[in-house]
Amino acid sequence: MLIIKSVDEMKRHMKDIKKQGRSIGFVPTMGYLHEGHMSLIKRARGENEVVVVSVFVNPTQFGPNEDYERYPRDEERDKKMCEEAGCDILFMPNKDDMYRENYSTYVEVHGLTEGLCGAKRPGHFRGVATIVTKLFNIVKPDRAYFGQKDAQQLAVIKRMVKDLDFDIEIVGCEIVRDVDGLALSSRNTYLSEEERKQAPILYKSLLKAKEEIEKGERASEKLIDLIKTTILEMPDAQIDYIEIVNNETLKPIEKVEGEVLIALAVKFGKTRLIDNMVVRV
Ligand code: PAJ
Repeated sequence: MLIIKSVDEMKRHMKDIKKQGRSIGFVPTMGYLHEGHMSLIKRARGENEVVVVSVFVNPTQFGPNEDYERYPRDEERDKKMCEEAGCDILFMPNKDDMYRENYSTYVEVHGLTEGLCGAKRPGHFRGVATIVTKLFNIVKPDRAYFGQKDAQQLAVIKRMVKDLDFDIEIVGCEIVRDVDGLALSSRNTYLSEEERKQAPILYKSLLKAKEEIEKGERASEKLIDLIKTTILEMPDAQIDYIEIVNNETLKPIEKVEGEVLIALAVKFGKTRLIDNMVVRV
């Protein structure tokens, strides 16, 4: 596995690979890798001749009171895990090379970014769309892999790729969970032992809502209430949002029909966790 840190060197290298006509699969990450990331890398390995992973904790997608500084980092471990998953090129740029002096250009996706996490984290998706655009221009992949864990991010990237005519296929990948149902996340490491015990309630509450839908419940308000009461049984849970939205527009709906996304963000202590489930009726 080749490790490249410089943006210019990465561009040169990817241009050469492009010339050879080899297909390129790309997995952008912020590192502190876990089995969720690994599933994306392995999927990319199965579908492309060259697999590129990036590890970059992107400052522009963190709000001023968020966890940019304390976001977990472990370069050595990330290198080992990438190698294990079959990555060919690991791109680990530094902040000053990605955002050079007088950096002034941003990519904004409207509409889809207004609700859910977009409403709670102003500027977050502008940072995500910007860094993903930069990474796409540097790596020039044929396919890029994103997790359904960040459902809104996946929708935003798909929209952006269509709107800006990127010649890249966006592949959405299933959420990978721990044995007790907690969706894997680099941020899970922040949880205290007690909070970690309580966190699987998120998945349980989503499953409960799905069951109710299967039994015939269609009223979003009732389903949201059910999720809320279930989660609040845990003493350390503080709800940021629970929403039921149309899975395409991400707009809230009153009645469950077609394909819906049940999405939530909940804080345990200082740690904000997100989870979601797509339900079709
Ligand atoms: P990060 O949180 O590191 O996630 C990188 C990719 O892994 C994302 O596509 C995310 O959805 C996916 N992922 C995370 N946890 C997962 C899980 N449990 N199961 C399946 N996939 C999972 O998302 C980002 O980084 C950044 O916003 C980034 C796109 C890299 C831009 O900076």
